[in-house]
Amino acid sequence: MPAGLGRVTGVTDAARTPALTPDEIEAIRARVAELMPQVRADLEALVRIPSVSASSFDQSQVARSADAVAELLRAEGLEVEVVTEGGRPAVIGHVDGPEGAPTVTLYAHHDVQPPGDEADWHTAPFEPTERDGRLYGRGAADDKAGVMAHIAALRAHSGNLPVGLTIFVEGEEESGSPSLETILERHGDRLAADAIVIADSTNWAVGAPALTTTLRGGLRAVVTVRTLDHSVHSGMYGGAAVDAVTALVRLLASLHDDDGSVAVAGLDVGEAADLDYDEARFREESGLLDGVELIGTGSILSRLWTKPSITTIGIDATSIDKASNTLAASAAAKISVRLAPTQDPAAAFELVKAHLESHAPWGAEVEVALEESGPGFAAQADGPLYDEARASFADAWGVDPVDIGVGGSIPFIASFVERFPDAAIIVTGVEDPDTRAHGANESLHLGEFENVCVAEAVFLARVGALHG
Ligand code: BES
Ligand code: MN
Repeated sequence: MPAGLGRVTGVTDAARTPALTPDEIEAIRARVAELMPQVRADLEALVRIPSVSASSFDQSQVARSADAVAELLRAEGLEVEVVTEGGRPAVIGHVDGPEGAPTVTLYAHHDVQPPGDEADWHTAPFEPTERDGRLYGRGAADDKAGVMAHIAALRAHSGNLPVGLTIFVEGEEESGSPSLETILERHGDRLAADAIVIADSTNWAVGAPALTTTLRGGLRAVVTVRTLDHSVHSGMYGGAAVDAVTALVRLLASLHDDDGSVAVAGLDVGEAADLDYDEARFREESGLLDGVELIGTGSILSRLWTKPSITTIGIDATSIDKASNTLAASAAAKISVRLAPTQDPAAAFELVKAHLESHAPWGAEVEVALEESGPGFAAQADGPLYDEARASFADAWGVDPVDIGVGGSIPFIASFVERFPDAAIIVTGVEDPDTRAHGANESLHLGEFENVCVAEAVFLARVGALHG
């Protein structure tokens, strides 16, 4: 078992090994700078593999990317295994550290989101292209740059790694990690470590590094509304019978108050940290149209990070080109609900379901089915390993990192927290507000990427030095 440095208390600064010297940090920075051309080339090769884990895409590409990652790790001298436990292949690599040294597990994922409509891309999604200091391509940031940041840190310490290191590169994060529980049951012992670094999040801004200390949980559900036994002529029956689409839309409208706050009673609501983030920046980053008001109440960051949100992400109803003068008998919508970091998703689903059932307009039949749900994350963001992580970011960027929340979800982190309760779980990432992960024209800021690589290499050195 690892020593559990993550929660060690009573370790005073004075009792700890002094931080790295400025010369040691500069040596790591110079070493990483030398490594970057090859790191960049390897990243581009990974981006060229369209490893979309969504099941309607060619899954042999996910296998190819797993093999490519495995090859990169073998070349660094790690003992590597590609494991498939009913889902897509994950890669586990390991290398022992010096006797008694702390251990670190590095996480990233090699699968990507679908490219969406290729017409929306300025250059082909799987052809990495540099423009204005950014590398464009699906997965160029999320999360193949996370994979390469880990490998860059390994290379920076090649042959002289100061910690025991395991790297876990998942192949289905973008599909909700369906086989991760089984992978953890069968291989989890190998992932145990004093610190687990999860590189799948964002920084606060270009030039402003961040640790992600909260993530929202979430659930997706399908709500189906039925008003008629069969569809009928809208002239003959409209006016006395309601069509299912109109009833569904009215039901969806009940999910928000007039000010746009989520109207479902009883959901947890938290307060976000007080970082400087104004409406102008939100409008700029989100692309919200001029004149369209923000919804919700309270600080913008609490609306994004610590309060629930509900989005309609799909509707099944007659399409306009197939429309006829008919009252539809049934209609359905898929909703995505984001939850406060500490909210239990099962309890949240019951509240959402009760709301929808009790707001059925005009007695319409309402059925609510849970599709999937996942918990949020609130880090125990202190202890010596967190101190070293913060110091590493400060070394790399020259400014202190901020603690941020994220409105998105990384549900499997909860499984890590449960399985490795004594580990420091440190969520980092290569993204910045312009990355557009999951969207068209996803990109990586190459300068920030180098900083991430330096920070991770410095972190391994600092953790190694903790041991003395
Ligand atoms: N990397 C994201 C989470 C994230 C989003 C981090 C924004 C930082 C900023 C993650 O890959 C993701 O997209 N998660 C999904 C959930 C998953 C179950 C498909 C999400 O949040 O929709
Ligand atoms: Mn993602």
